[in-house]
Amino acid sequence: MTYVRFALLVTTLSASSTLYAQEQDKENNLQSDDTNLIVYLTRTNNTKAVASMIHEAVGGELFELTLETPYPEDYDAIVAQVDEENETGYLPPLETTIGNIAQYDTVFIGFPTWDMTLPPPMKSFLSEHDLSGKTVIPFNTNGGYGLGSTLEVIEELCADCQILEAFETRGGLERDGILLAIENERKEEVEAGVLAWLESIGYSALR
Ligand SMILES: Cc1cc2nc3c(=O)[nH]c(=O)nc-3n(C[C@H](O)[C@H](O)[C@H](O)COP(=O)(O)O)c2cc1C
Repeated sequence: MTYVRFALLVTTLSASSTLYAQEQDKENNLQSDDTNLIVYLTRTNNTKAVASMIHEAVGGELFELTLETPYPEDYDAIVAQVDEENETGYLPPLETTIGNIAQYDTVFIGFPTWDMTLPPPMKSFLSEHDLSGKTVIPFNTNGGYGLGSTLEVIEELCADCQILEAFETRGGLERDGILLAIENERKEEVEAGVLAWLESIGYSALR
C-alpha cells in the first residue's frame, strides 16, 4: 500500500471532477515518491527494519549511512569511541554520498539512540547536507531509554527545516546481547505503529 502526504492529496483531489482526472491525480501522487529521501544509520538492523517499512509505505530513495572507517565490532569499544566523539564534537567522515540533495522535498532520518543522544554519523550527515526548507521526519529505535536529546540536536543542526513529529520504538539492547529485536510478531506490531504514525503526520493510504 502506498501512502502520500494528506496536503498533497487534498490539493490534487479538489481539482478533480471526473474519474479520469482522479486517475491522473493518482499517477501524479505516485510520481511524487521521487521527492522522498529515507536515510538511516543502523548497526544491528532494528532501525533498518523501520526504514524499510517507511520506504514500502511512502516510496522514494533509501540510503544507509556508512562510515569511511567503520566502528569496532566490539560493543564496549564502540561505546567508548562514541562517548569520546560526543565529548570532542568529532564528526566521522561518511562513505555514503547522496548525489543531489536538492531534488528531495522530504527527508526521513532514522537513527538508534546512542549515548542518549544523536549518533555522530547522523550529526555528520546533517552537517554535510543543506536541508533548509525541507520537511525532515525523524524515526528512531532505542534500547528502551527513549529519544534522549536526539531531537534537540536535530533542531540545532537543521534550524531552517520543518521537523515533523518523530517515530520512536524499542529495538534491541546490544549491551544485554539483544541484537535484532524487530522481527516476527514484534515486526508486525512495529509496522502497525509506523503506519498509524504516518497517518498522524498527514500521510494517507492510496486505495
Ligand atoms: C554505542 C551504543 C550506544 C547505545 N546507547 C543507548 C542509549 O543511550 N539508550 C538506549 O536506549 N539505547 C542505546 N543503545 C541501544 C540501541 O539504541 C538499540 O539497540 C537500537 O535498537 C539499535 O538500533 P540498530 O539495530 O538499528 O543499530 C546503544 C547502542 C549502541 C551500539
